[in-house]
Amino acid sequence: MYILFKKIFILLFFVSIILGNQLSKEEKDIILRSLSKEKYFLYQDIIINGQIVWQGVGPNCSQRYECIKKILDQYNRPIKVLDLGASNGYFSFRIAQDYQALCVMMDTSDRLLDICFLNNRLKGIVYLKQLITLQALSLLAEYEHFDIVLAFNILHHVSSCKQITDLLFKLGDIVIIETPPANDPRVHIKNNIPFLEQYLLAKMNLSGGKILGSILRPMPQQFDHISCMSVDLDLFNQIQYCENVYSKIFCFGTINNQMYSNLFFNKDIYNALGGVYYQ
Ligand SMILES: C[S@@+](CC[C@H](N)C(=O)[O-])C[C@H]1O[C@@H](n2cnc3c(N)ncnc32)[C@H](O)[C@@H]1O
Repeated sequence: MYILFKKIFILLFFVSIILGNQLSKEEKDIILRSLSKEKYFLYQDIIINGQIVWQGVGPNCSQRYECIKKILDQYNRPIKVLDLGASNGYFSFRIAQDYQALCVMMDTSDRLLDICFLNNRLKGIVYLKQLITLQALSLLAEYEHFDIVLAFNILHHVSSCKQITDLLFKLGDIVIIETPPANDPRVHIKNNIPFLEQYLLAKMNLSGGKILGSILRPMPQQFDHISCMSVDLDLFNQIQYCENVYSKIFCFGTINNQMYSNLFFNKDIYNALGGVYYQ
């Protein structure tokens, strides 16, 4: 009975998408409950064809988008963006919606692939279901170059953190990095956080760059007991924030409006780096 119920809603959902309707509460609920609960599933807002169907419990997404918008707005041509540790795809889906862009996401979840299919009205989305490693990014840098690289709250999670950070400057003209500060409570489990912050501050002083914004950090592990998203579950208004703990959004590089980026992604690299979605 439940399966029949679910099938009817999925059918209704696709009909609403084709007709361009807003999703009903029931449709949103079916979608949220069906998405896989891999790591960080609650973290980012989830957007489906321009509608927010879930407000995430990580650092505030719309506030962070406003920070990077200051850079995006300075382009007067199409842009190619790499979104590392894309999570639920919030930044790429918004950029692809608001700008003429090709957004290439790298992460490891099946959930993000489902969210890509749900955003079937958007063009300019690539998903590489690929672990971020020095080897993978080196291969990518040999064949592709991006106007903007986004690395939000990801570099302290990867091994070879310093080498990967350095490589980002080869991958893109503009590199935007969000990283937690040394007084973040997560420092006990991610001990490269203070190094990364110092490294980026030193780089900024040495070769230029700026801070686009500071974002208040939610307390860690407060929603670890939650096992499923649903429309009636409003965690966003229950988030507790760390006192006086703000990430920094660093921005390095210069905007090049003379060059014209083609909005294509190399098919061989797509296949080599776990490409699962290209629209
Ligand atoms: C803390 S979340 C940050 C998400 C997003 N960038 C943001 O700031 O809103 C880290 C994300 O990176 C992904 N991730 C962590 N380590 C990774 C790795 N080595 N390769 C690919 N993805 C990784 C996780 O799956 C998760 O979606």
